[in-house]
Amino acid sequence: MSTRITLTVNGQKVSGDVEPRTHLADFLREQLRLTSIHLGCEHGVCGACTILIDGEPARSCIALAATLDGADITTLEGMKDDALMQRLKDSFHEEHGLQCGFCTPGMLVSSWDLLQRKGKVDEKTIRCDMSGNLCRCTGYQGIVRSIKAVADTLPEKN
Ligand code: FES
Ligand code: FES
Repeated sequence: MSTRITLTVNGQKVSGDVEPRTHLADFLREQLRLTSIHLGCEHGVCGACTILIDGEPARSCIALAATLDGADITTLEGMKDDALMQRLKDSFHEEHGLQCGFCTPGMLVSSWDLLQRKGKVDEKTIRCDMSGNLCRCTGYQGIVRSIKAVADTLPEKN
């Protein structure tokens, strides 16, 4: 039996019918074509599917769409005009923060959340905070460098 849900996705109200087992990532990818959401492990481990639910980073592969009626969802597509996100994207490009790019949308959303919460952070904080996002290609050096390059330009926050 399907359930009707209404969400705000990237600032737009959307409604759809979902099965009890439909996870949010499938709903957003298949019904709304928001394909920045990458599905790697599909059980909450790799972070490739990270988006913002009500402003908090969340793994859309383990969030059941039927439980999220009324939620406010932001994906990478909805952050295209965000200045901090643009700086992170540029930095991932300049500092070789990606190879195949599969992990990259999740890395960008998680690092955006880290920097907007904490501002200027050191490498150890970046490595700890980003430890829930896995990358099979880069060995992480370029990713950490990309985030650090932006962090270094930000003010410290308490
Ligand atoms: S696909 Fe969601 S955490 Fe891996
Ligand atoms: S760049 Fe390929 S998984 Fe991270």
